[in-house]
Amino acid sequence: MRVLVADHPLVAHKLTVLRDKDTPSPVFRQLTEELVTLLAYEATRGVRVEPVQIQTPVTTAVGTGLVRPTPLVVPILRAGLGMLEGMTRLLPTAEVGFLGMARNEETLEAVTYAERLPDDLTGRQVYVLDPMLATGGTLREAIKFLFKRGASDITCICLLAAPEGLEALKEELHDADVTVVLASIDERLNENAYIVPGLGDAGDRLYGVVN
Ligand code: URA
Repeated sequence: MRVLVADHPLVAHKLTVLRDKDTPSPVFRQLTEELVTLLAYEATRGVRVEPVQIQTPVTTAVGTGLVRPTPLVVPILRAGLGMLEGMTRLLPTAEVGFLGMARNEETLEAVTYAERLPDDLTGRQVYVLDPMLATGGTLREAIKFLFKRGASDITCICLLAAPEGLEALKEELHDADVTVVLASIDERLNENAYIVPGLGDAGDRLYGVVN
């Protein structure tokens, strides 16, 4: 497993505004999309391409096309949905599948409550969107699920990670073809498994508190 932290002043600036507890939901959603587009630029460095012949107004030329089937983008519901627009802006021809996962707040275990994905992902490149890599439990389950369906390699795009969650994920996936692209590795998890300093509950900040 590889970890890549985007080192860019605009990423750091947008993330600072996201962290601010007074940033309202509409601004939070907009900034999340912008940040994901910046992260996606790094995350798609390994996207599969092939030479294609085109006709310019002047001559014939060989350019670059995305290999088919194009990558599959999988936001993890609910908070990953806030990252989808930022991702598809960069990869508009990608297919989109959905995985609904939530953590049980008592056991902190990830449970799958919804799934809409192709049955066969053999050979597919998959981009998983999940803003907060806290304990790593949700991503671990999602990654296992996608590899079982045949995904060839998986790139996870997250806004923040806790070092504990990243370590746990690395231990389990050390030689798997997984890349995690992040805006920041924060200090730690608190006793409620929230990332510190973090940005709070990403789903609530995007979409409000649902009781
Ligand atoms: N999920 C969140 O939304 N925030 C955290 O800090 C941890 C998990």
